[in-house]
Amino acid sequence: ARRSLMVGFGGYLPDRIVTNDELAARLDTSDEWIRARTGITQRHIAGPNDSAVSMAAAAASRALEYAGVSAADVDAIIVATSTPDQAFPATAVRVQSELGLRGGFGFDIAAACSGFVYALSTADALVRSGQVEKILVIGSEVYSRIIDWSDRGTCVLFGDGAGAVLLTAAEGPGPEGILSTHLHSDGTTGDLLYVDGAVGRRESSGFLRMRGRDVFRHAVAKLSDSVDEVLAAHGLTYADVSWLVPHQANLRIIEGVARKLELPPERVVVTVDRHANTSAASIPLAMNEAVRDGRIRKGDLVLMEALGGGLTWGSALARF
Ligand code: ACO
Repeated sequence: ARRSLMVGFGGYLPDRIVTNDELAARLDTSDEWIRARTGITQRHIAGPNDSAVSMAAAAASRALEYAGVSAADVDAIIVATSTPDQAFPATAVRVQSELGLRGGFGFDIAAACSGFVYALSTADALVRSGQVEKILVIGSEVYSRIIDWSDRGTCVLFGDGAGAVLLTAAEGPGPEGILSTHLHSDGTTGDLLYVDGAVGRRESSGFLRMRGRDVFRHAVAKLSDSVDEVLAAHGLTYADVSWLVPHQANLRIIEGVARKLELPPERVVVTVDRHANTSAASIPLAMNEAVRDGRIRKGDLVLMEALGGGLTWGSALARF
């Protein structure tokens, strides 16, 4: 059957690194508190020349280079972002132009921290339906621009960056490819994690607000259900999973899911310690790292999961 293979991987992180100590110098917080509650030690923060578009384009170029595919062969681009530079054109269409493309199409997806799983699901469906052969799936976020830097409860948690994956269509039998994706949302939990404005409201583009403890509780429960759902869909068990590549919100949430899967820590790809939470960019950034350093290899079964504002959540399973 027709399916999509993940063949290219790229990431971009801004040069500027902000350590916990640097935050502690201007806020009532400490390196110990942040490490103990989140596992985060530092984050990359966008400079004046970084934007959702520039970071997405950089990550995409690296993914194309990795795959040995020319930009001219890309049929479509999906960018998952909650922090676009403009209301429109979509980030993906700007990226299309940055890559020198004039054909195909692009659009953005807004699903907060679940954005990459939503984008992957949409891209996989476009491949399976025969509409595209090659499609870039990108997460690019500049949360530093929607964070209330005086709120110690949220500002310590996030970082900026972009990650990209290139999907290509394959026909015929074969174990490799995206096995399935599973999406969920529940708008009644929208007030647990949200941005209190947008371009549609003239008074303010808004800042991120969060009820951290409630989000934490939902995250562990919903992500556990999500990993069960995707494995059950294929008659697989925890023991079949080679790698967990989770959304990187918080080390305690990641460890909670890994424990549930009975996966040892060495089978879990973690970047939250160095990247903090880069929202929709976190899964492709983590995957890029683990593919390039040789941890994820051909034949491996890779499980992805994410939860974010909405609440939105979901999972995806791929055989490399
Ligand atoms: N430094 C020092 N103290 C702090 C800080 C800080 N940066 N932030 C909060 N505190 C204080 C609080 O004010 C509170 O003090 P009080 O008891 O005097 O009122 C105390 O620490 C405990 O606060 P809680 O919010 O209850 O702390 P908790 O143990 O829940 O940890 C955290 C907070 C890390 C945010 C946790 O709730 C969490 O990880 N939640 C998940 C949120 C998340 O990851 N969101 C990301 C987006 S969603 C996603 O991607 C899954």
